Amino acid sequence: MTRRPGTLTAPDGMDGATIAAVAERYGTPVWIYDAGRIRTQINLLRQFDTIRFAQKASSNLHILRLMRKEAVMVDAVSAGEIERALAAGYTPGGDEDPIVFTADVLDRQTLQRVADLGVPVNVGSPQMVEQLGEISPGHPVWIRVNPGFGHGHSQKTNTGGPASKHGIWHEDLTDVVESVDRHGLDLIGLHMHIGSGVDYGHLERVCESMVRDAKRIDHDIRAISAGGGLTVRETVADPIVDTDRYFRLWDDARHELTAHLGHHVRLEIEPGRFLVANSGVLVAEVRAFKRMGSNRFVLLDAGFNDLIRPALYGSSHGTEVITREGDRRDGDVSATVLAGPLCESGDVFTQSPDGVVEHAPLPAVVVGDLVVFMNTGAYGASMSSNYNSRPLAPEVLIDGGAVRLIRRRQTIDDLLALEDVAE
Ligand code: LLP
Repeated sequence: MTRRPGTLTAPDGMDGATIAAVAERYGTPVWIYDAGRIRTQINLLRQFDTIRFAQKASSNLHILRLMRKEAVMVDAVSAGEIERALAAGYTPGGDEDPIVFTADVLDRQTLQRVADLGVPVNVGSPQMVEQLGEISPGHPVWIRVNPGFGHGHSQKTNTGGPASKHGIWHEDLTDVVESVDRHGLDLIGLHMHIGSGVDYGHLERVCESMVRDAKRIDHDIRAISAGGGLTVRETVADPIVDTDRYFRLWDDARHELTAHLGHHVRLEIEPGRFLVANSGVLVAEVRAFKRMGSNRFVLLDAGFNDLIRPALYGSSHGTEVITREGDRRDGDVSATVLAGPLCESGDVFTQSPDGVVEHAPLPAVVVGDLVVFMNTGAYGASMSSNYNSRPLAPEVLIDGGAVRLIRRRQTIDDLLALEDVAE
């Protein structure tokens, strides 16, 4: 079966000639991002008091610096992400809390680090409250609430409901608020994030739950966070999120709480995908093609070690084929299985969520052609691995006319160096 009702084109700053030139200069596979497109996405959410970028979607320092220059704050989910935020110039402190740490667990090293830095912690388990209270009295905290339901583009990205490990179960919220007070911590606000790739109906329900829970706890709070989860179009058939409507929904909720508490309540949003997905492409080279029975396979030099979303979730990424000169390959298309170089049958970019091989409509190709995977600016490079001892691909940022390498290609020597330890 051929899927994909339509392919989205690359961002504006990225025509075929530019993509081909980057591939020529930096080799393939290569990630390319368009800064202008990221700024456009940011501007769609400017009405929120605070846009907090979930950097797990794309944590390159240069992307984080771009965010900081646009006054976007940052979320961190590990010690490494905190260090990235610091290295990108975010400094803890101030009214808006440039960095917030969100997790369900505080490992010992991270606990000490957030305490030393005074980075607010968005707590997702009762033990985090106790552990923070012990070593950092007065520490600022958010509570991440699991409202009892979730949603996502895949069950693996659904972070709400009883089957999810995330957040404080809504029925336990009052107890945890009491524990926050008992441990002398400073409650900033409530946060809900029910998943990634969430449909609009579920996002509305989150907003209702937030108002209900924020009133129910009978405790002063200064802020609420809508979390992330906003979708982007992966094919031309997908709906476009109406960000004005979404803001109005949350703004009304905020006003209701402002009236309830008698003071201004700050409104945050915490997107990852929405800010960066459409800005990025992954470019790979065609290295081989063959038939297996009735299946036409085209094999590339990028695999699921680079882009894991199709193998992990059955995600679709629209594709375009261009020549080395950057011209679009037109002509008749035929149903094609697009696959990578790894030693696993699951190393296929066209597959259903349960791993059944699917097809994309692809024109005839020659070795050397470039396959461009659209919409890979989020959870692309940041989820890459070294499986099969394959080095991480470089990242390139286009900003206006400027083309800049923002991460060099990892070398095999880089990989081996980690293991260069005494026996
Ligand atoms: N806030 C929290 C607490 C999160 O856990 C996440 C995503 C976000 C915000 C941002 O969600 P977004 O706006 O990007 O949907 N690897 C998956 C997505 C996993 C998201 C994990 N948490 C994918 O490739 O689709």
